[in-house]
Amino acid sequence: MKKNEWVEKINQLRKEMNAVILAHYYQEGDVQDIADYVGDSLELSRKAAAIDADVIVFAGVHFMAETAKILNPAKKVLLPDLQAGCSLADSCPAEEFRKFRLQYPDHVAVTYINCSAEVKALSDWVCTSANAVKVIQSIPEDKKILFAPDKNLGDYLIRQTGREMVLWDGVCVVHEAFSLEKLVELVKAYPSARIIAHPESDPILLKIAHFVGSTSAMLKYVQEDSRQIYIVGTEEGILHQMQKFAPEKTLIPVPAVEDNTCACSQCAYMKLNTLEKLYQCMIKGGPEINLDPALIEKALIPIQKMLSLP
Ligand code: 13P
Ligand code: SF4
Repeated sequence: MKKNEWVEKINQLRKEMNAVILAHYYQEGDVQDIADYVGDSLELSRKAAAIDADVIVFAGVHFMAETAKILNPAKKVLLPDLQAGCSLADSCPAEEFRKFRLQYPDHVAVTYINCSAEVKALSDWVCTSANAVKVIQSIPEDKKILFAPDKNLGDYLIRQTGREMVLWDGVCVVHEAFSLEKLVELVKAYPSARIIAHPESDPILLKIAHFVGSTSAMLKYVQEDSRQIYIVGTEEGILHQMQKFAPEKTLIPVPAVEDNTCACSQCAYMKLNTLEKLYQCMIKGGPEINLDPALIEKALIPIQKMLSLP
């Protein structure tokens, strides 16, 4: 079937089901274009918390759809492909995280939203890359902090806030795989370019970047900054919105170390979602995210604390 035929069918189903489609910036351009809202993890959580629809179709990864379900237990939350996981969430099984917490009983546990509902339920705070600094700064100075699962973001937060933190040893497979050699080549070819990077990236990239921020912060930076060329250190799906926001600018993704299939860095989990799978999950009413009500109750507490920050 052609793209416009999928689009027509999805639009029809969306009306019939009273559904809303949320998409992360790392989705394929086609999927972003059909969404009611496109955003980063924080923006999509805020949207999910305020949604007035019967069904939420989440074009993102599993932990994002789970967060939407925690915020909307009475709504049906669909994820087009249940295999759409995340290396950070996978690195932090709840049982191991529970043991880790027990080693540091007097530490406040802050977890990056890229983790399972079970890990959120064991946390004091949840944060996203857009509000992580604010969350850490809201914790009283005399409290010790434990941060999971992203050690690169954790390391960045230590440098930004000056707080001592115990870090879990997890990484994002996409942001960890940028090639510094290829980046050097790009800088030589485009000496006037600004390097912008997501805080999940390797500390070396973060040190040389002119700007570090969440996906939404990077979009804003490129839109408002007056320069012409940007070397973008995050998943390449962001370029779709970035180019729309700043059509006159040149955007170059930082290539990955192994780069056989494309000239850029893609999250294989995010890219599992397609227009066809979106349609299939809407027509079938599944895969659906279902969580135990007791788990929802516990996981909601640290998410709500985060959302209540200004
Ligand atoms: P943000 O959406 O917070 O920028 O995070 C990026 C990411 O890796 C989502 O999986
Ligand atoms: Fe997880 Fe990285 Fe993919 Fe985001 S880009 S979903 S952090 S593996």
